[in-house]
Amino acid sequence: MEERIVSAARLPKEGEEVSLRPRLLKDFVGQRQIKENLAVFIEAAKKRGEALDHVLLYGPPGLGKTTLAHIIAQELGVRLYPTSGPALERAGDMAAVLTNLEEHEVLFVDEIHRLPRVVEEILYPGLEDFCLDIIIGKGPGARSLRIDLPKFTLIGATTRAGLVSQPLRDRFGIILRLDYYPKDDLYLIVKRAASLLEIDLEEEGAWEIAGRARGTPRIATRLLRRIRDFAEVAGASCITRDIVKTALDRLEVDEAGLDKVDRILLATVIDKFQGGPVGLDTLAAAAREESGTIEEVYEPYLIQMGYLQRTPRGRVATPSAYAHLGRTYPHNTKTTTTQQAALFTEE
Ligand SMILES: Nc1ncnc2c1ncn2[C@@H]1O[C@H](COP(=O)(O)OP(=O)(O)OP(=O)(O)O)[C@@H](O)[C@H]1O
Ligand SMILES: [Mg+2]
Repeated sequence: MEERIVSAARLPKEGEEVSLRPRLLKDFVGQRQIKENLAVFIEAAKKRGEALDHVLLYGPPGLGKTTLAHIIAQELGVRLYPTSGPALERAGDMAAVLTNLEEHEVLFVDEIHRLPRVVEEILYPGLEDFCLDIIIGKGPGARSLRIDLPKFTLIGATTRAGLVSQPLRDRFGIILRLDYYPKDDLYLIVKRAASLLEIDLEEEGAWEIAGRARGTPRIATRLLRRIRDFAEVAGASCITRDIVKTALDRLEVDEAGLDKVDRILLATVIDKFQGGPVGLDTLAAAAREESGTIEEVYEPYLIQMGYLQRTPRGRVATPSAYAHLGRTYPHNTKTTTTQQAALFTEE
């Protein structure tokens, strides 16, 4: 088997994170508009004594979707039942989960874009009319039975909103998109994590981590833990900016927060495809990565940072990507003309 490089963004996530998860809205850093709106919706639902409307949370990995789902249940004062799209294989699995819910409780379905179609379909009447249509028996003798469900709240989370079917998406009353965090927010997240983990971290060190965390709280806290390892082995009692820099260099996280895979992707577009455009699958094969992972994990940040552009004809490396990798941007060549054309082609 070919060896693949596993970057920080893809390492297993649960477990070590649970202790750092904020439990209340007030402790959730950043995403101000989302928090303010949620606070209103939660309060209104509580005042009316109703279940909160169904919520869809989407955005890149590690930005706080699971955390927010738990916070919502906590703020509502109800229990949360966690499950995930791939775990619900048959219609019966979903029926079992739904019939076990109690009034106003939260059903959290992670990776909701991976719900099988048959399971999704049994969910529709559940979401709209809080009932379940079950077919008993087979053939001419089969009959349909309607079961009433408690009024519950579905919270769905996904990194791939585009893969959630339209009928399912339409049934969410609240749709929230999480964006990458600015450096100021990541600084607060790093400080909070350092204090919870009892790590002595200098201001300058915290800013350095914040600036290299790829806009992602999960990466910020993960880098902090790894840097603590370096500091401990080096016998340093306090984490300074120098320690952070040395550790991050060794972790191959660069000044812009790009990791090894990010750089391989950009270098592949530039060196093997003259800067693009190159189709996603071709790029994935050349860089030996999965196309789904590129689309879900790497590309959104590279696009947000202005290193990569997505055009109808494929991915194109921008002048910033050339500069970042120390390559010369090919001005006025055929390549750039093709790239320009690609940028303006309609999808
Ligand atoms: N706004 C925030 N404030 C403080 N900590 C946060 C915030 N958002 C996320 N975190 C931290 O980052 C970690 C990752 O968040 P979470 O697991 O909720 O991400 P996710 O969006 O569900 O990711 P995935 O798509 O991979 O499931 C959490 O354990 C939490 O400690
Ligand atoms: Mg999650």
